[in-house]
Amino acid sequence: MVTAAQQTASTPDAARTFPKGFLWGSATASYQIEGAAAEDGRTPSIWDTYARTPGRVRNGDTGDVATDHYHRWREDVALMAELGLGAYRFSLAWPRIQPTGRGPAVQKGLDFYRRLTDELLEKGIQPVATLYHWDLPQELEDAGGWPERATAERFAEYAALAADALGDRVKTWTTLNEPWCSAFLGYGSGVHAPGRTDPVAALRAAHHLNLGHGLAVQALRDRLPAAAQCSVTLNIHHVRPLTGTEGDADAARRIDALANRVFTGPMLEGAYPEDLLKDTAGLTDWSFVQDGDLEQINQPLDFLGVNYYTPTVVSETDGSGTHTSDGHGNSPHSPWPAADKVAFHQPPGERTAMGWAVDATGLYDLLRRLSSDFPKLPLVITENGAAFDDYADPEGNVNDPARIAYVRDHLAAVHRAVLDGSDVRGYFLWSLLDNFEWAHGYSKRFGAVYVDYPTGRRIPKASARWYAEIARTGVLPA
Ligand code: NOJ
Repeated sequence: MVTAAQQTASTPDAARTFPKGFLWGSATASYQIEGAAAEDGRTPSIWDTYARTPGRVRNGDTGDVATDHYHRWREDVALMAELGLGAYRFSLAWPRIQPTGRGPAVQKGLDFYRRLTDELLEKGIQPVATLYHWDLPQELEDAGGWPERATAERFAEYAALAADALGDRVKTWTTLNEPWCSAFLGYGSGVHAPGRTDPVAALRAAHHLNLGHGLAVQALRDRLPAAAQCSVTLNIHHVRPLTGTEGDADAARRIDALANRVFTGPMLEGAYPEDLLKDTAGLTDWSFVQDGDLEQINQPLDFLGVNYYTPTVVSETDGSGTHTSDGHGNSPHSPWPAADKVAFHQPPGERTAMGWAVDATGLYDLLRRLSSDFPKLPLVITENGAAFDDYADPEGNVNDPARIAYVRDHLAAVHRAVLDGSDVRGYFLWSLLDNFEWAHGYSKRFGAVYVDYPTGRRIPKASARWYAEIARTGVLPA
C-alpha cells in the first residue's frame, strides 16, 4: 500500500502537492448561518434563548436572520461550486428536526436538509453532516440539559431520525462539534449557552456528551450503509508550558486533561484519565459515570475531526491572581474546573481579530502528537481559519491578505505533517460565509465569502478566490 506520505513525496511539485483524494472543503453551522428561527416548526434552542437575553451577546445580536441561508441555500451551494469545493461541512439544527427534543421528526425540517444535500450532490460536493453544533432544543435544557443523562439518550434518538432520513445521501457524519465548548463554556464559564456557571455541571455535561456521542455512533452504524463514515470533531487544545519548569509542565498536563483527554480518553481509549479524576476529586467522585458507559462511549471511528485556531500557553501560579485570559471569553467564572493555579498567556506576535495568536507550528505539533497517540486514526481538519476586520471597498471588493497568509501558513503546516507521516485526509476552511460568531455576534468575520448583513449580499473575498485555486489543483502556491 502506498502511504499518503509516499504518494505526496513522489509527485512533481512534491513540496506543495497534497495527497490524491485530499478533501478540500469549507464549514458552517446551523445557528450561525440559517436564520428562519421560527419557520417550518422550528422552536427555540438554547442559543435562541441565550442570544435573546440582554447582555449575553455583543450588540444584542441573535441568529434570528443570520445569513438567511435557510432561504438562500441554493445561492450558497452555487457559490461553493464556483469555489470548486469538494466537500461542505454543515450542521443539522436539532430544533428544526425534533423541536421538543423528543418524538417524531418534523418533515419540513428534514426536507430542508434533503433539498440542500440533493443540491450539493448534484454539484459534486460531498455533504459532511454534524448532528450537534450547539443548538440544543430549549425544552431539553429545561429538563436539565447536558448535565443530565437523559439528554444523551435523547441525542441518540435524534441521531437515528437524522440517519433514517438522510442516510441515503449523506455518507460522512460527525456526532458532536467541540463538546469542550458545550460543556465548559456552556456550563462552566457561562460565555456560551445555556450560560450556567457550575463546575460540577460542566463535568457532568462532558460525560453525558461523551455518552451521547457513543450512543449516537451506534444509532448511526445501525442505520447507515457499511461504507458510511462516523466521526467526532474536537477542538483539541495544543497546550504548551510557558517555561521549562516542572510547575509549568504540570499546569500543561492539567489543562491537557481537562481540554483534551476528558474526551479522547473515553471516546478513543475507553477510560477517563487517572490524573483527571484525581485533579477533580475535590469537586466530584464521578459517580455519574455508570457501569457500562465507557464501553458505550468507546466506539470505533473512521476519522477524528480536529478544529485548530491557536495554541494554548499556560504556566503555574500561586492561585492568587485575579485575572487570567484563556482566549475563551471574559467571565468571572473559569471554564477550567479545579485549575485555579493555572495562568493563561497570549504569546507575543501577530493576532487575529479574535485576539488569538497566529501560530501554525501549533497545528503541525498537534497533528504529529495525534498521529503518535492514535496511529491508526485518520485525521481531518474540520475547522481552521481566522477572523479579520474585513470590509468591502468602494468597488465592492474585499481584500483580505492576512487571511490568505494565515491559511497558507496553516496549510503548509498540514502539508509538512503529512510528509512526516500524519494521515490527514482533508481540510475545511472556517467558514464559508461570515456569520454569527456566538457571544461576539456579527462583529467577527471568519468567512471566505463576505456577507453584507443589511442586504444579505454575498461577496467572495480575495481569500475565497485564492482558496478555490488550491481546491482545484490540490497544490499550495509558494
Ligand atoms: C469553532 C466553532 O466550531 C465555530 O462554531 C466557531 O465559529 C469557530 N470555532 C470560530 O470561533
